[in-house]
Amino acid sequence: MPVIEILGLEKTYLVGFWRKRPKRALHPLHLTVEEGEVFGFLGPNGAGKTTTLKLLMGLVFPTSGSARLLGRDWTDPEVKAQIGFLPEQPYFYDYLTAHELLNYSGQLSGVPGKDRKRRIDEVLQRVGLTDVKVSTSPCQASTPWAAARSAT
Ligand SMILES: Nc1ncnc2c1ncn2[C@@H]1O[C@H](COP(=O)(O)OP(=O)(O)OP(=O)(O)O)[C@@H](O)[C@H]1O
Ligand SMILES: [Mg+2]
Repeated sequence: MPVIEILGLEKTYLVGFWRKRPKRALHPLHLTVEEGEVFGFLGPNGAGKTTTLKLLMGLVFPTSGSARLLGRDWTDPEVKAQIGFLPEQPYFYDYLTAHELLNYSGQLSGVPGKDRKRRIDEVLQRVGLTDVKVSTSPCQASTPWAAARSAT
């Protein structure tokens, strides 16, 4: 089964302030990635790689075309719970510790409470952040990174 099927996705942005003009970011793209396939999505700057990924994640909307992910319609929220996405510029809430951030993400992803605690311990261990305090007051280290620094 294909895990990604891109069916003619196309994106044209409107740019400019007073007089908006169309800027084509992605010509109609057809692409299939099969299960188990290791796929490198390469292209020159401005080719439309980021736009394609943003479209697949529903962060921007297509001018035309559609896609299927894991055999389902790409707009199906169930699909989003099964895939991971690392944005180019990730944002971390600066008032949450690493533990709190993972707990929040786990809740949003529907990970049950007892599994969540175990998984959080596992991933913090994997990245060497187990010594970070479970919670912190606003005047103490308030980011995962600051908290990590204060723990070392
Ligand atoms: N929000 C936006 N508004 C207007 N034009 C955009 C926007 N985002 C991207 N573009 C334009 O769309 C085209 C494709 O950009 P995109 O960022 O998808 O390319 P890319 O392949 O990821 O490039 P890079 O290798 O530099 O990351 C570029 O011409 C870019 O300037
Ligand atoms: Mg890019």
